[in-house]
Amino acid sequence: MTQLPATKALVQQALSRLSGSTVAITGGAGFIGSTLAARLSDDPTIQVILLDNLHHDAVTDTPLLRRPNVRLVRADVRDKVAVTEGLRGAQYILHMASIAGVDTVMKMPVLTMQVSLQGTMNVLEVAHEMQQAGQAVERVIDFSTSEVFGRYAFNVGEADATLLGAVGEARWTYAVAKLATEHLACNYWKQYGLPTVAIRPFNIYGPHQMGTGAIHHFVRRALRGEPLILHNDGSQIRSWCYIDDMIDGLLLVMVRKEALGQSFNIGNPRSTVTIHQLARDIIRLSGSSSAMEHLEWNFPDVELRVPDIRKARTLLGYEPLVDLEEGLARTIAWYRQQPVITVVNETHGGDPRPNVG
Ligand SMILES: NC(=O)c1ccc[n+]([C@@H]2O[C@H](COP(=O)([O-])OP(=O)(O)OC[C@H]3O[C@@H](n4cnc5c(N)ncnc54)[C@H](O)[C@@H]3O)[C@@H](O)[C@H]2O)c1
Repeated sequence: MTQLPATKALVQQALSRLSGSTVAITGGAGFIGSTLAARLSDDPTIQVILLDNLHHDAVTDTPLLRRPNVRLVRADVRDKVAVTEGLRGAQYILHMASIAGVDTVMKMPVLTMQVSLQGTMNVLEVAHEMQQAGQAVERVIDFSTSEVFGRYAFNVGEADATLLGAVGEARWTYAVAKLATEHLACNYWKQYGLPTVAIRPFNIYGPHQMGTGAIHHFVRRALRGEPLILHNDGSQIRSWCYIDDMIDGLLLVMVRKEALGQSFNIGNPRSTVTIHQLARDIIRLSGSSSAMEHLEWNFPDVELRVPDIRKARTLLGYEPLVDLEEGLARTIAWYRQQPVITVVNETHGGDPRPNVG
């Protein structure tokens, strides 16, 4: 096998290839979408469309929306007419609109499934119609989740079996709906040649995150000197992937032909810790005097989740470069600069639940 050049060089090549194109991001006002939009729109020749209903909003009143090559379309992915309008002219479509965050998923499982299933069906149908009308659709990237691997997932690869949790446990509605969309995206490639790819992000963190991710909660609490609340004994294990590495992975998936019709784990297996260790690291790195408190939590949880990323390494040249210590330091520095550490959508007294992801 030929040796791929270093990830950064490949990412640079990817950005050059995207020059002059139009990129539509559903869910583009969220954490990952807005960060990708910022990276893409640094190139003034790339037009970026953010299609989002602002359920989460990391873009209003930010410099991103003042860029002439970034446009926000406020719309719901469940509305096919709006999706048709919003995706018009895009060569690259990244579909990440979703109810993300275990808290909201458990409260609104029907909405979670609707957004995932109807939204993805709409995006794929519209992209297919665009293609049939002779428009150049270069890529449609569907966002799945690492939750498809279930409660115990050590070094899981893309070809490993996915697991479906028990019916009646609201948490698994997110994974089951995402898995269905992944099959759907793959089948649009197989049956119609629509150039789809599915992504399974493994616990992404960094500046601009919203919702109920553990790092988002822990950092804000640590900076406020409030106790960090861990579920049960905090022995759950996760691999944490810094947002910049995620964006590099996406840029590679957008342009490399080897990605077509495939699913990819995007994560950082080297940054694997227990939730307890994560909380300790955040307290130490933020110089906080916060205590740690343990809360009994009797809902299904993912106990262990570590990705195998060999497929992304081999086919894309993807390599996560930011280790946990460095990523946490950057994240804490960003939160410190925020004028007010606001509590967004925190509906359960600030109890930090490890994100679905
Ligand atoms: N962050 C992670 O660790 C992680 C892990 C696994 C999977 N994912 C997936 O990656 C994608 C992006 O996640 P994120 O962390 O940026 O989450 P996010 O919540 O910040 O972004 C999701 C966006 O989707 C939008 N949205 C929700 N319902 C919508 C609707 N009906 N119509 C239009 N827009 C709607 C929200 O307003 C939000 O801006 C999601 O599909 C998520 O499921 C993320």
